[in-house]
Amino acid sequence: MVIEIPELFSPQEVREIRTALEGADWADGRATAGHRAAQVKENEQLPLGHPLAKQLADRVLARLMQTPLFIAAALPQRVLQPRFSRYDGRGHYGNHVDNAIFPIPGTGEHLRSDISGTLFLSDPETYDGGELVIEDMFGTHSVKLPAGHLVVYPGSSLHRVAPVTRGTRLVSFFWTQSFVASPERRRLLLELDGAIQGVAADHPEHASVDTLTQVYHNLLRQWSST
Ligand code: NI
Repeated sequence: MVIEIPELFSPQEVREIRTALEGADWADGRATAGHRAAQVKENEQLPLGHPLAKQLADRVLARLMQTPLFIAAALPQRVLQPRFSRYDGRGHYGNHVDNAIFPIPGTGEHLRSDISGTLFLSDPETYDGGELVIEDMFGTHSVKLPAGHLVVYPGSSLHRVAPVTRGTRLVSFFWTQSFVASPERRRLLLELDGAIQGVAADHPEHASVDTLTQVYHNLLRQWSST
């Protein structure tokens, strides 16, 4: 399921992030792609060890963990340090599937990429092209969001970034390992969670709210892995 999460950052906050990124030293993005992905990738990335990359990544991570819709949709177990990339002058990233497993730098541990996330950082009026095109079981989605908005989608989906034909597209992107690996189960839990909140808002005293909440947590208990 493709889920849009509006205003992870306010327009003012995203302007600060953009200003910081505009002055940074960028590197060829192919350096971090797998063998097949490198053949279709043309963009620039902020090197992971760059002090600004770490500082901004921490800012994104902290905000993710304060965002109820992200928590409910992703059920995050851990999130790989968000990365930053820049597309301009026909930069693009052809059809690919993200790696399933990523090493977590400096830990010897690994993360399974259940969910991919893209945080849009450029105002959509300032560039042409650059849509994130996602193919999942429900069809093809073309996503280009206002600056500061986030999209999350199953890591298993084929996706691409359309060529940027004018201006610059700045994004942050990251992978999340979920407590619930299955996208279908995450979707059911998200729908149940939303329905419980709806009933609880309209009929807070109804006994079914407790039963439904119990069902939610017991499904999560059955389906989660730690
Ligand atoms: Ni990708």
